[in-house]
Amino acid sequence: MLDIKKTLTQSPKQKPDQSNLGFGKYFSDHMVTVDYSDDKGWHNAQLVPYGPLCLDPAAMVFHYGQELFEGMKAYPAADGRVLLFRPEKNAERMIRSCERMCMASLPVEDFIQCVETLVKADRDWIPTAPGTSLYLRPFVIATDAMLGVHASHTYKAVFIASPTGSYYPNGFAPIRIFVEDEYTRASRGGTGYAKCGGNYGGSLKAQEKAQELGYNQVLWLDSVEQKYVEEVGAMNMMFKIDGEIITAPLDGTILPGVTRDSCLQLLRDWGCKVSERKLSVDELISAAHSGKLEEAFGCGTAAVISPVGEICYKGEKHIINNFEIGEISQKLYDNLTGIQWGRLPDPHGWTREVK
Ligand code: PLP
Ligand code: COI
Repeated sequence: MLDIKKTLTQSPKQKPDQSNLGFGKYFSDHMVTVDYSDDKGWHNAQLVPYGPLCLDPAAMVFHYGQELFEGMKAYPAADGRVLLFRPEKNAERMIRSCERMCMASLPVEDFIQCVETLVKADRDWIPTAPGTSLYLRPFVIATDAMLGVHASHTYKAVFIASPTGSYYPNGFAPIRIFVEDEYTRASRGGTGYAKCGGNYGGSLKAQEKAQELGYNQVLWLDSVEQKYVEEVGAMNMMFKIDGEIITAPLDGTILPGVTRDSCLQLLRDWGCKVSERKLSVDELISAAHSGKLEEAFGCGTAAVISPVGEICYKGEKHIINNFEIGEISQKLYDNLTGIQWGRLPDPHGWTREVK
């Protein structure tokens, strides 16, 4: 358990209009920071007013990208409770990301303590308009001031919070995705399964290309053969083909999403036929041609459930389910958000109340 020293802000900020929050544009009054050094371990845990970090220009994060982050939300329940959703999953994934990036990792209980301390301090920043929540962004950076290429011996973990609406401008509505066959995101043996900033920086080129063509996001293919469907920029993907719901396996190149895992569990609870298997883009496109591609949707913390209404591959456009929200997407959205916002029973004990 960390000893978190608390210094509250003397000048609370004005809260944004809840009807137009968008994603990740506003930040709450406080942040939590914790330092690490090899000799002291995690120490100097503090809740402080939100503000700039002071770092040495030689800090290793700026040069070699030793950085990683997490994404989770605090949900306002109608009865006044504040709920986290499977926070231990984010903490465990951060440990796996840290291991891949040779960084010091915060123990699960310390991670959750930092998250809860921030949520409690900024409880009045949790928006209450339908579909809104307080997005939480824990991240860790390497702080050694050294230019040699090796792992840092000091780190800073930071937790910030952002009152947030929907990730896509149109909310829960079908999006368009572009199948990327030029650039790749993650290779075998690479960092695809880790939530490190470099994975996202390297994806911007393709993301911009897709956006210029009128698409919301990129659907990545595997980097070896550019044959198998992997995931989308900020979410895992599921496809319903001829009654089978297919998602890419956790082979190391995609992010093991908490939402993905939760959707798989719910789908199995409902007796759906679910497969974690390789899906080739050829199989996907021929299913689109034959009418067997019944639904496609992405899933993620920020994106929640995001129906896909159109995919474009090699210049050919395919409309899915008449560009309408599919039955499975709707059912998953209703059940997942129902559990997250405390409206529905939580049979798997996924939510944790912040008291
Ligand atoms: N894949 C990528 C690349 C992501 O950035 C995210 C978002 O965090 C996901 C998948 C979904 O993960 P989760 O459901 O844990 O938010
Ligand atoms: C999330 O869903 O929490 C993410 O981190 C996705 C993204 C905004 C990078």
